[in-house]
Amino acid sequence: MTSNPLRDPRDRRLPRVPEPCALVVFGITGDLARKKLLPAVYDLANRGLLPTNFALLGFARRDWGDMEFAELARTAAREHARTPWREEVWERLAASVRFVQGSFDDDAAFDELAAALADLESSHGIGGNAAFYLSIPPSLFPVVLRQMERTGMAESTDDRWRRVVVEKPFGTDLPSSRELNELVDSVFSAQDVFRIDHYLGKETVQNLMALRFANSLFEPVWNAQHVDSVQITMAEDVGIGGRADFYERTGAARDVLQNHLLQLLALTAMEEPVEFAAEDIRTEKLKVLRAISLPADMRQFAVRGQYEQGWLAGQRACGYRDEKGVSAESTTETYAAVRLGVETRRWAGVPFYLRTGKRLPRRVTEIALSFRKAPHLPFAPTDTEELGHNQLVVRVQPDEGMTLKFGSKVPGSVMEVRDVSMDFLYGEQFTEASPEAYERLLLDVLLGDATLFPRNAEVEASWAVIDPLEEFWADTTPYPYRAGEWGPRAAEEMLAAEGRAWRRP
Ligand code: BG6
Repeated sequence: MTSNPLRDPRDRRLPRVPEPCALVVFGITGDLARKKLLPAVYDLANRGLLPTNFALLGFARRDWGDMEFAELARTAAREHARTPWREEVWERLAASVRFVQGSFDDDAAFDELAAALADLESSHGIGGNAAFYLSIPPSLFPVVLRQMERTGMAESTDDRWRRVVVEKPFGTDLPSSRELNELVDSVFSAQDVFRIDHYLGKETVQNLMALRFANSLFEPVWNAQHVDSVQITMAEDVGIGGRADFYERTGAARDVLQNHLLQLLALTAMEEPVEFAAEDIRTEKLKVLRAISLPADMRQFAVRGQYEQGWLAGQRACGYRDEKGVSAESTTETYAAVRLGVETRRWAGVPFYLRTGKRLPRRVTEIALSFRKAPHLPFAPTDTEELGHNQLVVRVQPDEGMTLKFGSKVPGSVMEVRDVSMDFLYGEQFTEASPEAYERLLLDVLLGDATLFPRNAEVEASWAVIDPLEEFWADTTPYPYRAGEWGPRAAEEMLAAEGRAWRRP
């Protein structure tokens, strides 16, 4: 492989641009491809971050020609792009867009795909490098991987790289994820496998590491001595949209808790990595995931719910069981909350409360550290009635930023202490807009930078946390909550049992 000797990766003046390559997307007609991947490809091109010799290949069952595919891709990119639309950028991209039609068990179609790639090597100078994005249901991974193995497409050599990108949820439990991991690793070599958890591509999530390890202010209080509890919330106001089939088989715990929330927990709780490098960061995250403990009393501390009809932003929302494609007796959860522990010297005894849900009052993701109260208050009890716990809240989205909440004297002639907050907002501090998570992650795949991708062992350690929960919930019915409410009452009771309450983000 040739690399540019004049390009030093530490030089910030030059953007990192991948080597000539192709991106092959399986499931190109799906939601993810249309709403995230294609727009991300356009945005990268628009920012000048794609190599001049770049090709995009779509693979799907539909009977399309290159032109029809290019049109779909254009519409999708135009509708969801983050950066301004520039026709000339799209036209340049469109010149190297190809479509291959076929089903996943169709040998001829995969032979054609391999031939198309070989073709692009000479016609578009992509140098044989290619990343394959599996934007397909996990049940289809085996057949696609086998096809890639059969056609030799998965093979990296000294002259070219071949990488594969797999979307979460990776498996449905520990045994199935192990099986999948073994399969993927038997077809691609481990360093060529990129497992996507798009939360790691979010600026605010990456900033957790800057916040903790680039500053001296926070680390001394980032432990059980000072932290009373941690709440990690990922709330959505939307329902399940058109994904009933996927969601019925998945549920909130497998869809979000197993990956996004546990990754946020890992980044919040991890020790400092030896270096800011993929392996070192992954090692520290894995240690946390393996140190997670489940509540002894799951009945009290592991709650799941399902939304019933209600009102959201002045609009009537139907119940989950009335969604199109959902069984009228479905026991799939749309809300999950759990109290976890991290059994390390730093965190022993600190509860980590995690919750996620659909059809909650608003879309918000945040990590809130609530600090212990001062051991002694030299004031009259009435002076501090309005003083709560000091809190540090990392706002992952929206209103990306951070809030520090602490007590302050209310101006006047008496001593009265009340909570105030200090805010850092990305929008105010930086002129650059944050790239979309998929923009960053796609670019990293093409660059071969695995820092923001969980490795195999992390995925498995995460399933080891979720499996016992699923087992406990297996014969239970989720608690109902009305669409537009913050989850079922049992979730409130879960915190109240320990004298705490969920934050209202
Ligand atoms: C996906 C889940 O991983 O994340 C979806 O499968 C969820 O159910 C989505 O809606 C939320 O992502 P974001 O970036 O909008 O918070």
